[in-house]
Amino acid sequence: MVQAIDYQRVGDIAVLKAQNPPVNALGIDVRRGLLSGIERAEQEGARAILIYGDGRTFFAGADIREFGKPMQAPGLPDLCNRIEAASAIVVTTLHGTALGGGLEVALASHYRVAVPSAKMGLPEVHLGILPGAGGTQRLPRLVGCEAALDMITTGRHVSAQEALERGVIDRIAEGEPREIGLAFAQELLDQSADRRPVCDLPPPAAVDFDAAYTRVLAKGRGQLSPAVAVRAVQAAAEADSFADGLARERALFQELMENDQRQGLIHAFFAERAVSKLEELKGVTPRAVSAVGVIGGGTMGAGIAAAAVLAGLSIVIIERADQAAQDARERVLANLSGAMKRGKITQDQYSEIASDKLQVATDYAALQHVDLVVEAVFEDMAVKREVFAALDAHCKPDAILASNTSYLDLNEIAAATSRPENVIGLHFFSPAHVMKLLEVVVADKTAPEVVATGFALGKQLGKISVRSGVCDGFIGNRVMNAYRKAADHMVLDGASPYQIDKVMTGFGFPMGPFAVGDLSGLDISWAARKRRAATRDPRDRVAQFADWLCEAGNFGQKTGKGFYVYEAGQRGGVPNPQVAELIARDQAAQGITPRSFSDEEILRRYMCAMVNEAAKTVGEGIARRPLDVDMAMVFGYGFPRYHGGPLKWADLQGLDQVLRDIETYAEQDPFFWQPAPLLQRLVADGEMFQSLNAM
Ligand code: 3HC
Ligand code: NAI
Repeated sequence: MVQAIDYQRVGDIAVLKAQNPPVNALGIDVRRGLLSGIERAEQEGARAILIYGDGRTFFAGADIREFGKPMQAPGLPDLCNRIEAASAIVVTTLHGTALGGGLEVALASHYRVAVPSAKMGLPEVHLGILPGAGGTQRLPRLVGCEAALDMITTGRHVSAQEALERGVIDRIAEGEPREIGLAFAQELLDQSADRRPVCDLPPPAAVDFDAAYTRVLAKGRGQLSPAVAVRAVQAAAEADSFADGLARERALFQELMENDQRQGLIHAFFAERAVSKLEELKGVTPRAVSAVGVIGGGTMGAGIAAAAVLAGLSIVIIERADQAAQDARERVLANLSGAMKRGKITQDQYSEIASDKLQVATDYAALQHVDLVVEAVFEDMAVKREVFAALDAHCKPDAILASNTSYLDLNEIAAATSRPENVIGLHFFSPAHVMKLLEVVVADKTAPEVVATGFALGKQLGKISVRSGVCDGFIGNRVMNAYRKAADHMVLDGASPYQIDKVMTGFGFPMGPFAVGDLSGLDISWAARKRRAATRDPRDRVAQFADWLCEAGNFGQKTGKGFYVYEAGQRGGVPNPQVAELIARDQAAQGITPRSFSDEEILRRYMCAMVNEAAKTVGEGIARRPLDVDMAMVFGYGFPRYHGGPLKWADLQGLDQVLRDIETYAEQDPFFWQPAPLLQRLVADGEMFQSLNAM
């Protein structure tokens, strides 16, 4: 059996090689191996110890799968202390990604060398915890509190060069990790260099930790871990001794370990990776895609085209007329200059894309060589069907025809072609070159290879792709419509839109639902409501205040007025006084006596509506697993990652309580609050949504 840590001697140097693929996570076998390696090196009288990683990376951190289970000895903090206390000189070579506990092992060693491409960081806050193996005590001693706070509270990955400049590492060297580590260790021995434990360095100078705490807490929108990490760094500066600082770090680490946010964030970590791994795609090879067509270069088409060229694909945009085609090109270029300003591309890359990769046309003949087309024309079935029939006639037989439709029936669109097996939904979110979510919508006849190509394209574009079946709104918009409706009902009953927005931003959403409506355009949901009016169930409670707002020409930010009034040059808006009048009119017309809502009730109703609809999408097979809905909401709708997603949140709340609440709300409105059968079944079986994620 391969040992997690291989031990060898090279002269005076004991060499400890980690071999725990894929990322050399510091699980129990690795920790035991490191401990026994250090002990053996000392017993054998080795004068130096080299620690490095085999394969693609140095240790990428603690083994996250062990969290929440009892820690088996040696724990990582004790191990790091033991490494630091070793009687021999300890050298580490960093390559790949030296993260979290991995970097902490390096900080506990006496000298550090990295290959030029190495990245390092303490990303623990993204998992809802903080560096818990001395990182918050050792890093500030090496780099000072400001730099340590920056690295620890953002969790960002730092390049070897930056790490060298800041003093995290001692040198950068080209070559194999083992060879450069051995050379460094030998050089130190030749110079009779001393051991150099970081714990012996003086404590760093204090900074204004209260100010840092407040700033970091506000930036995290309620995420606790980065703010709590500030207090751990504070202990490095203020504790009476290094040991006291470590004890404080441990206490804060434990506090975060027990918080639900840790569970939400770790769920998100694994779900983000699992979401594109689908049983149906095992062994299915995607088709090659290098040239892409986009039909309609409006808001979405221009964003999709920008995303594609930024990922190295070449693009042809088809518009209705020459001027529209030129406008589309300008829109894509504006998106690309935005990307250039954000440092995503250089001026040279911009120019190359503009001259070689981006073509616009009005004739479908320009599409004859493309491998895949994304249609992003008006949201109108007749227009879409016409476009798909034309695509079918002009594109090569194995070209994939995708629609970016938000709500329309993909099966009906596919039926306009002679190749429904090659038709798929690729539902991007606005702005498409920025937003991470891509819903890959699978119609009845879509071939597995075409689904696999959708996922491969999503990966190439840097998206998180979520599989959805066909229904009104697919996963995301369907769930959103449900909680938007719950919000409208609460307003009818007496809650103000501004109270609801405040409660939901307090929960961690970047914006509340009414501010989001103003941002994306109130006319869009108005049009959808009008479309559905003919088939609406008479039991459905209808709020009209938003329709009246639109009838008066108030579509939100783009018209300067919606639920909020937007003044030029002002960030955000102030409540629009007309809205209260419209709501009062609606209430009077419906004979409703408004009542007050507590913040707790608003949150509960909003979240229960979201969870209930999410459970329906899973129960009906529209979403394959609960985690698929969770990731759609986190990456497309601003759901706070630290709650894990609506169904993870529901698991943490307790499903029986969620169901009881829904049943209580159903007493007043049994049509809207019909409990999801899946939720009822899970409660009856004493199960959680999590039990369905492993499938
Ligand atoms: N523990 C357990 N599994 C891990 C892991 C970890 N720390 N890091 C990655 N993995 C797993 C992934 O789940 C994935 O598994 P899968 O193949 O079954 O899906 C596999 O390793 C490969 O990971 P990626 O697909 O993410 O590979 P990439 O090459 O894209 O990225 C990475 C590699 C940059 C290392 C990325 O995986 C990553 O960021 N990992 C997490 C790093 C981290 O947060 N470390 C801190 C851990 S907490 C800690 O150390 C606490 C300490 O302070 C006490
Ligand atoms: P838009 O109105 O900004 O752009 C549509 C473009 O299509 C226009 O430039 C128009 O000239 C062009 N067009 C119309 N018919 C055409 C035809 N037959 N041939 C070629 N070009 C044609 O609309 P937007 O917002 O970009 O939406 C497009 C699609 O994307 C819709 O299906 C919409 O539901 C969907 N969508 C929109 C999102 C949004 O936030 N705006 C988000 C996700 C999907």
